[in-house]
Amino acid sequence: MAFHSIKSVVSLKQEDDGWSTFSSEEQTRVEDLVAKNYDAFLRFMEDYSDVSLYRHKHLHYLKRGLRHLSESYECLDASRPWLCYWILHSLELLDEPIPGDVAKEVVGFLRRCQDPCGGFAGGPGQMPHLAPTYAAVCALCILGTEEAFEVIDRKKLYSFLMDCRTPEGAFVMHRDGEVDIRGAYCAAVAARIIHAVTPELFKGTAEWLARCQTYEGGFAGEPGLEAHGGYSFCGYAALVILNKATLVNVKSLLRWVACRQMKLEGGFQGRTNKLVDGCYSFWQGGLFPLLHNVLDAEGEKSLSSEKWMFDQIALQDYLLINCQYHSGGLIDKPGKPRDFYHTCYCLSGMSVAQHFVNREHTKLTVVGEKRNLLKPIHPLYNICVDSAVRAIRYFKALSAP
Ligand code: FPP
Ligand code: ZN
Repeated sequence: MAFHSIKSVVSLKQEDDGWSTFSSEEQTRVEDLVAKNYDAFLRFMEDYSDVSLYRHKHLHYLKRGLRHLSESYECLDASRPWLCYWILHSLELLDEPIPGDVAKEVVGFLRRCQDPCGGFAGGPGQMPHLAPTYAAVCALCILGTEEAFEVIDRKKLYSFLMDCRTPEGAFVMHRDGEVDIRGAYCAAVAARIIHAVTPELFKGTAEWLARCQTYEGGFAGEPGLEAHGGYSFCGYAALVILNKATLVNVKSLLRWVACRQMKLEGGFQGRTNKLVDGCYSFWQGGLFPLLHNVLDAEGEKSLSSEKWMFDQIALQDYLLINCQYHSGGLIDKPGKPRDFYHTCYCLSGMSVAQHFVNREHTKLTVVGEKRNLLKPIHPLYNICVDSAVRAIRYFKALSAP
């Protein structure tokens, strides 16, 4: 039985100290909206197992997005490889094949985003940047054809990554750009996938990442700032890729991220005292497989061999009942518009909540209909496991760039 049908939703409301602030009022407003949704659901649905993922509506929304974007996406003109990645990854999670002609067109577009000096830009003719480089590499791995893999000029990509390195081992997002923990993650993923992780590229990076862990346990965008889910995922996943996952305080990160799951809503907030948001289902939820695996390798005895260390049912409740847009696509929270970013990260988080995988066991926990099951993701890269394995095999077989 699902979490929200066995606990009175009202008893899960935040404990208010009676001191009203903008944040406490917003929290109450969101709790009321979410509670109303759970309440309506419990009242009108005969059987909890009826809750369904609007698979066909999501597919329709996603497929249309590959061909046509509304004017509201104009502001993402410098993030076009991201749109390819968000849509392709959502489609692969839903186990929907990409037609050959569409794949060819996307490959052609991403080829035009590659800079003559290496790395990918947010659009053809723009400046190469680490964020669209991560997105383009992942999108090409999802497409997974020889033609897609061959787009990546590995030698030039490596040289672009070297150009983004600072002397202490942090990464700027682009030439003359800002240092940010996202840069280290995007560089680590790109290098790992194309089989080009070298000591010279990442000298000092793990130590710099460790300086981003804050007193709360999560990671900030750079040393001295506030812990946030997006940055915590980037920082810790980069450390795992660099084989330095125990350089930080693992238990305090675990405690911090576990406390970010909201009591009533079931979804995650990005930082302390902020609101639930569907996209953190992945940025926070994706940390649990990484932490579980690291603690397991360290010989931690108290780990379950069936579930992650968060409430996987409550998260699926939040996503299925509060984050599905009626005509397809997923959203941050009730009342928000749909978009491809939230569709991608809500589905990615749902996949983490459904699939438990450790060295010996796999265990599925699927809220609602059986066909709500999504494909499993590789939590280091956030592409599906089969895409990640295929790409890593392909590039490993080539000589070093
Ligand atoms: C706060 O937004 C958002 C951030 C501080 C950055 C979040 C970072 C990511 C999602 C990681 C991106 C990763 C890559 C690989 C590019 P807000 O103040 O609107 O939201 P909040 O109230 O939920 O904190
Ligand atoms: Zn969000």
